[in-house]
Amino acid sequence: MTPIQESASRLAIKMRRSPYRIVLLSTVVLVMLAVLSTHEVVDHPATAPKYLEGLFEGWPGGALSISIALLTLLFVDSVRSQAEKIEEALQHRLRSFEEIHMEALALLEWVTDEPPSEEVGKTAFYMTSATPVFGLEAKSTVKARWKELLEKRRAANADTKLLCYNWHALDGIGDSPLGRFAKKLAEAEPDAVKSWSEACVNAWNQYEELLPYGHKGIPEIYLIDEPNFGIVYARRSAGRERGIIYISNSASVGKRDKGAIAFTTEDRNWLMLIKETFQAQATDNAALHFPRRTEALIERDKKLYQAFQEQGNVPQPVKSQSCLPRLPNGERIQIQVFPGVFPVEDSWDTRYMMQAIDRVVPLLGELVRAGQISNGKGHPVAEIAGVDVGTGTGILALAMASHYEDIGSVVATDNYKPAVRNALFNFRMAAANYPSLCRPLGLQACTPAPTWTDYYVDDSMDRAAKMRVFDSVMKGQCCVVNCDLAERVYRHNDSEMMLIAFNYPAYQSPSNVFNTGGQQAGEPIVAKFLTDMKDRLRFSDVLLLPEITIREGGSFIGVGIENLAREHGYCTLQIDAGSPLPASDNGRAGGFVRVFALARLMDGGKPQAQHHPVLSKLSEKLSADHDHEIQGAAGYPERAPPAA
Ligand SMILES: C[S@@+](CC[C@H](N)C(=O)[O-])C[C@H]1O[C@@H](n2cnc3c(N)ncnc32)[C@H](O)[C@@H]1O
Repeated sequence: MTPIQESASRLAIKMRRSPYRIVLLSTVVLVMLAVLSTHEVVDHPATAPKYLEGLFEGWPGGALSISIALLTLLFVDSVRSQAEKIEEALQHRLRSFEEIHMEALALLEWVTDEPPSEEVGKTAFYMTSATPVFGLEAKSTVKARWKELLEKRRAANADTKLLCYNWHALDGIGDSPLGRFAKKLAEAEPDAVKSWSEACVNAWNQYEELLPYGHKGIPEIYLIDEPNFGIVYARRSAGRERGIIYISNSASVGKRDKGAIAFTTEDRNWLMLIKETFQAQATDNAALHFPRRTEALIERDKKLYQAFQEQGNVPQPVKSQSCLPRLPNGERIQIQVFPGVFPVEDSWDTRYMMQAIDRVVPLLGELVRAGQISNGKGHPVAEIAGVDVGTGTGILALAMASHYEDIGSVVATDNYKPAVRNALFNFRMAAANYPSLCRPLGLQACTPAPTWTDYYVDDSMDRAAKMRVFDSVMKGQCCVVNCDLAERVYRHNDSEMMLIAFNYPAYQSPSNVFNTGGQQAGEPIVAKFLTDMKDRLRFSDVLLLPEITIREGGSFIGVGIENLAREHGYCTLQIDAGSPLPASDNGRAGGFVRVFALARLMDGGKPQAQHHPVLSKLSEKLSADHDHEIQGAAGYPERAPPAA
C-alpha cells in the first residue's frame, strides 16, 4: 500500500467511525453560507444560493446564536478527536520484531531501572516469550542486559513471572514447543539463529543462570505450550501499568518479513485482558522449582550438555569398552547411542547398576535352579524375567540378557520415543552379532545386522519418512515398550519371577537434556514407581534401584531408598558396599551410589531383608560370594570403601 493509499484508507475508517462529524461539518458550511447570504453581513447575495436568502431576515441574533452553538460543537468535537489521538498513543503499533524486543526491554527497564531502588520491590513484570530472555535471536549484549535486570529484580524480591515454551517432549526435543519454535525461527532467520538445537541449548543456559542453587522463585518460571499471542505486562509501584500484545509463534514466524502484529497499550481494558490471560496460563502450569539444586548438579548438567552437543546428529558407538555389558566369554556387547538418548560413558550410576545386575542375576539363577524360590502359589519359580525400566540405550536390559543361562526373557521400557528406537536397534544388533542373546531378547537373529537408519528419526525428516521408520520399528516382536514406567509390562506366566531394574532420572533439572520424558525425577518418580508396582508384584519379584547421593559442602541431594521403600511397604537389601561418584571439576562436590534390592513386604512381615523369603536367601548368597568382591578383575572401576 502506498503512503497515499494508506492515508486515504485511514481517513475512510475515521469517517466511518464518526458520521456525525460529516453531518456537523456540512451543517456548519450551510449555516455559514446562510449567514453570508443575509444583507447585514454582505452586500452580494449572489454568492449564496437563492433559496437561502432571507433565512435569517427579521431574526438578527439567530445567525449569531446558531454560529456560536455550532462553533461550540466543533470545539467539543476537536476535544474528542484529541482524546482519540491520546487513545491511539495508548495503543501504539509496533511494526517490527526488533521494535517489540526493544519495547519489552524498555518496559523491564521502566519497572526495574527507572524507579528508586526501594520502589523496585513493589513493581511487577510478567511476560510470555520462548525463553526467559526475550528473543531467541537477540544479540548477546541485549541478552546480558536482560539478565542484569532480572537479577536486579531477584535482589529486590520484585514480582516477576515468565511463561516460557516447554522444552520437554516425549518424541524428542525437536518436537517440544521450544524445539518447534526454534526450528521455524532458524529457517526464517538463519543469520540470527544458526541452528535450532544450539538455540535450545542457549535457552537451557538461560535457565541455568536464572535458576541457580537456592533459587527462591524469582523469576517465577512456568513452562507452557506455545500461546496464541504473547504478552508483556509491567506495573510501577504507584500503580501505573503498561503492556504489549504481540503475535509471534511458529505459525507466524515465517511471515516476519511482512512486519509484526503488535501494539503497546496503557488502556485499562487491554491491560485487564493481558493480566487475565497471563494468570490463566500460569495457573494451568506449575512453576519450575529447583530448591535443592547444588553446584555439583549444575556442573553435572553442563557435562551432559557437552555430551549432547558433541553427539551430533548421528548415533555414536560407546568407545570405552569397560562401560559395556560383558558376555560370559568376556566379549563386550557393542552399543550405539542415538542423539538425545541418555549417554553411557558419562554415567556412573549405569555402571554401578550393571555391576549389581552382574552380581545378583547369577545368584538368583542359582536359587531358581535349586528350586528355592516359590512363586507364592505353591510352585517353585522356573525362570527369571528381566525388566529394564527407563532403558535409554537398552544397556541394562542387555546386561541382564548377557546372563542368558539365568535369564529367560528381557523387556525394556522408556517413555521417550528416541530411547525406545535406540534400545530396539541395539537389541536387534545384539541378536545379529551374539546369537546366544536371541532367546532372552525374544528376537530372531537377523542377517545382515540392521542399520541404524532403519530406527533413527531425524528432526529434519518429513512425516512420511518418520512413519516409514515407525512402521519398520513396530513390525515384528517388540521387546521394548514405549510407556510410563512399567505400565505396559505384563507377566507371561505364573512360573516366572521378575527382576526389575530402574536407573531413574536422579534429579529434576531445567537443563537435564536427557530427562526429556518429564520433569519428574528423583524422589517423586521413585515414589510413583513403588506405588504403581506394589499391587502388581509377587513376593518372589525383586526390584533393583540405585541410591544416588550428591554431596556438596553441607548440603546433599539424594533419594533415601531405604526410607522410601519402607514407607511404601517394601523391604530392602543393600547389594554393594557403595561406590563414589567422581569429584566435580572444582573438587568441591562428590557423590555416592549404592544399589538396593527391594521386595514386597509380606503381610504382617518385618521390614528386615532376613525375614523376606527371597531377599534373605539372596543376602546369604551375597555374603558367601567372595569372587565378586574384586571388581577390578571384571573390568569395572574399583569399588570404593563405604561412605563415612
Ligand atoms: C538415568 S537414565 C537411565 C538410562 C539407562 N537405563 C542407563 O542406565 O543408562 C533414565 C531413563 O529413564 C527414562 N524415563 C524417565 N522418566 C520415565 C518414565 N516415567 N517412564 C519410563 N522411562 C522414563 C528416560 O527417558 C531415560 O532414558
